[in-house]
Amino acid sequence: MKFFLDTANIEEIKRCASFGFLDGVTTNPSLMARENISDQAARIEEICSLTEGPVSAEVIAADTEGMVEEARALADIAPNVAVKIPLTMPGLSATRSLADQGLAVNLTLVFSPLQALLAAKAGAAFVSPFVGRLDDVGMDGMDLVEDIVSIFSNYAFETEVIVASIRSPQHVLRAALIGADICTVPFKVIEQLASHPLTDKGLAAFLADHEKVAAKRPHPNSH
Ligand code: E4P
Repeated sequence: MKFFLDTANIEEIKRCASFGFLDGVTTNPSLMARENISDQAARIEEICSLTEGPVSAEVIAADTEGMVEEARALADIAPNVAVKIPLTMPGLSATRSLADQGLAVNLTLVFSPLQALLAAKAGAAFVSPFVGRLDDVGMDGMDLVEDIVSIFSNYAFETEVIVASIRSPQHVLRAALIGADICTVPFKVIEQLASHPLTDKGLAAFLADHEKVAAKRPHPNSH
C-alpha cells in the first residue's frame, strides 16, 4: 500500500520524506487555505520537488471547460502533478478529455461505489473515497472502500483507490486489510501510526536498566 501525505505543509512533507515512505501528496483548497497560501502554483511546484510521486492539485472551476483549462495549467507546473477534479457530471466530462490528453486525474469527493465506477469508466488515474466524512454522518466509510476495491477487481480497472478523509489509524489498518492501493494520511495520523504506549514504556525500562548498571561500573579514571 502506498502512503500519500494529505497536506500542503512543507515541514510535514519534508519530515515524512525523511522516514522514507512518502509516495505522493494530496492537497485541496481547504488544506491550501489552512497554510495561508496565496501563490498556489508556487506551493505545488515546491511540493513536487520534494517527492517523485503524484501531487494532487485541485481545480476550482465547476464547469467542464473551466476545469479542463485549470487542470492543464496545473499539469504544466510539474510532470508529477495529478489534477484533482470533483466527481460531478461536468467533472466526468473534464476527466475524459484530460485522460485522453494523457493527464493523470484524481476524481475526488467520492461517496458511493457507483460514482467510483463512473470515475474508472471516465479514465481517472485515481479515485478518492472520503471515508471520514461518511463516518461523520453515521455511515461506515470503509464499507465504501471495500465495495470500490471489489468492483475494480471484478473488471480489472487500472484506476487506483486513494482512501481519503482519514481520521485514525483504524482507517489505515482497514485500508491495508482490504487491499486499497493508497492511503492519503494527515501527518497527525502518521504520528499515531508510529507510536505505541508499550513501545514508550519498554524503551523507558531498557534505559533505566542500562543506567542502573552504568552507575555501578567503576569510572575509567578511578584507579
Ligand atoms: C484528500 O484528497 C482529501 O481532500 C482529504 O483527505 C479530505 O479530508 P477531510 O475530510 O478531513 O477534509
